[in-house]
Parts: sequence; C-alpha cells; structure tokens
Amino acid sequence: MGKGFKRVAMAAGVSMVAVMALYAVAWQQSESALAQTFAVNDPPLVFAGDDAEAARGAHLYGVLGCVECHGATAEGKPVFDAGPVGRVVGSNLTPAAVGGRYDAAAMAAAIRHGVGPEGLPLRFMPADDFKNLSDADTAAIVRHLQSLPPSDNQPGATELGPVGRVLYLFGKLNWVPAENIDHTPRVRTAPASAPTVEYGAYLAQVCTGCHGQDLAGQRVPGTPPEIPVARNLTMHANGLLGWTEADFIRVIREGKRPDGSELHGFMPWRVYAAMTDDELRALWMHLSALPPLPGQPKA
Ligand code: HEC
Ligand code: HEC
Repeated sequence: MGKGFKRVAMAAGVSMVAVMALYAVAWQQSESALAQTFAVNDPPLVFAGDDAEAARGAHLYGVLGCVECHGATAEGKPVFDAGPVGRVVGSNLTPAAVGGRYDAAAMAAAIRHGVGPEGLPLRFMPADDFKNLSDADTAAIVRHLQSLPPSDNQPGATELGPVGRVLYLFGKLNWVPAENIDHTPRVRTAPASAPTVEYGAYLAQVCTGCHGQDLAGQRVPGTPPEIPVARNLTMHANGLLGWTEADFIRVIREGKRPDGSELHGFMPWRVYAAMTDDELRALWMHLSALPPLPGQPKA
C-alpha cells in the first residue's frame, strides 16, 4: 500500500468518524428536545355556542391552512415526505382519535403553543403561525373540531430523518415549534374581521412560517431544492412592487401571476382561495403597508 493511499484512507476514516460524531450529537439534541415539558396556563376558552361561532370555526379551519395538513374533515393525512430530512403527517383530529386525550384547553394548547396534553411538544405542528389567534377564534376552531364526525383513519406518524436531525442541530429546521414560542399565559383578542390593515396583519400570521417574519421571503426551512423560495411579499422590486390588489386576489384565487405564470403547489393558494374578498383585501392592505425590503430576490 502506497503512502498516498494510506493518507487518503486515514483522512476518509477521520471524516467518517467526524460525521458519525456529528450525527450522534444531532440525534441526541433532536431527541432531548422532545423530552422537555412546557406548562400552558392560558385563561380558559369561552364558547359563544351560536351558529356564527360554528361557521367561523369551519371557515378558519380552512383558510388558516389546518385543512392542508389535517385534511378536509380533519381525518389526518401524510403532508410532505422529504426523504432523509423527514416526513410530516397531520394527525387525525376527529373526536374518535383525540377526543379522549384532548379537552378544549388541551386543543388550544396544541394549536397556539405546539404542546400536547402531557406537556410534551408536538413535532412540526406550526403553532408559531397560530400563537396569536384570538381566544374567540381558537374557541371557534376547537368547536368545529369537536363537532366533526369521528374517523378511524390512521395517517401514520411524523418523523425526523438523519439529515433533518443535522438541520435541526444547526437551527435550520423548526422541528419543535414549542421551543420558539412564549408560553406566558395571556388573553388574546383579534381586530374586527373587516378590510383593514390590522385585520390583514392578523391573517398574515399564517404566511410568516414560509415567507419569513418580515414577509421579505426565504427558502422555507427544510425544503429540498425543487421547492421554490417563498417570495418577497413586500412592495420592493424584488417583491410585489407594481402589483395591484386585483393581481394579488387573482394569484391567490387562481394561482396565476400577472405575467400568466403559475404558482408552485407548495404555496397553499388553493387553501387561501376560500378567503372572503374582505379577507384578501385586508391581507393586501397589510402587505402594501409593509416597509419595502430587498429580502429574497425573485427566483
Ligand atoms: C404544516 C402542517 C400543519 C398545519 C398547517 C397544521 N398542523 Fe396541526 N399538526 C401537524 C402535525 C405534523 C401534527 C402532529 C405532531 C406530532 O405528531 O407530534 C399536528 C398536530 C396537531 C394537534 C395535536 C393532535 C395530536 O395528534 O396530538 C392539533 C390539535 C392540531 N394539530 C390542530 C391544528 C389546527 C387547528 C391547525 C390550524 C389552525 C393546524 N393544526 C395546522 C401539522 C400541521
Ligand atoms: C407552506 C409555505 C407557504 C405559506 C404558508 C404561504 N406561502 Fe406564499 N409562497 C410560497 C412559495 C414556496 C411561493 C413561491 C411559489 C413559486 O415560486 O411558484 C409563494 C408565493 C407567493 C406569492 C407569489 C409572489 C410572486 O412574486 O410571485 C404570493 C402573492 C404569496 N405567496 C402570498 C402568500 C400569502 C398572502 C400567504 C399567507 C396567507 C402565503 N403566501 C403563505 C410558500 C408559502
């Protein structure tokens, strides 16, 4: 065996050990993240009990995107399989599946804190997008879930793969959303449902998980390269500068940009298409009022 070969073999051995050590740390960290417990003590939900509440719950379940991961009747479904990164499976939320474990307060804790009934964190459930949902809207959603017909569907389990564990270690994957949420008990209210900047900001909570806190666009954490970057939604040349309200409403309702090109299906426009005209107008007013940021250029 030549000296050169020995050196290469040795270097390969050393980097193999380094990779295994890195993986061991990533595995340990991503597992211990799931062993933490979180206390959730928000004030109890108050239910209106009227038809308006039931209708609002069903509407929000759709337009806030729950339907995208948990299915039309909350029967649960596999959402996204990113191979070695991991797989996301929305759980069956019908009374048959979770009724015994989740009362109304526990449901609210899952939705707004990403915390399960035993205080353990949920995996990948994007509670940071819902952490500011008002008490009334949360009650409406819980009521909707509790009124659904039971389903015995077993969609499977959410899992983190080896690449996902390393991404988590480097802060690139929101595996345990509860870690990034303030769990201080508080009362939450919402601006009136109307075409206002304030109500638009309230609705846009659900856009930040993908488009970034400042909505200036980003690569959605953990997505493979074939998924396009979530674009800049501010009024910058890299974003929506030059768009009209009608352009915005069309892209959400039909998935078509002003230049006629189609949006990738990873952008859940079909879900937001069910928003009312007033809701879409409110979102547009909020986006129009954002500071223009260069953010992520157009792909
Ligand atoms: C991006 C996908 C996604 C979206 C959007 C989403 N969820 Fe989830 N949700 C999940 C996943 C994944 C889990 C399972 C977490 C686990 O297994 O640890 C979950 C778990 C839950 C649970 C706990 C159920 C259980 O199995 O313990 C509730 C309740 C819940 N979600 C409600 C909602 C509601 C209500 C909405 C909308 C406001 C919503 N989710 C939106 C992915 C999602
Ligand atoms: C699950 C991730 C995800 C969520 C949640 C999401 N988006 Fe997107 N969005 C994307 C991706 C990815 C693209 C880029 C699609 C493409 O290039 O085809 C996109 C593109 C867009 C575009 C087109 C912009 C352009 O310049 O072409 C608009 C407008 C938009 N999103 C608005 C929203 C709004 C408003 C919300 C919240 C109500 C939202 N998105 C929530 C992922 C998301």
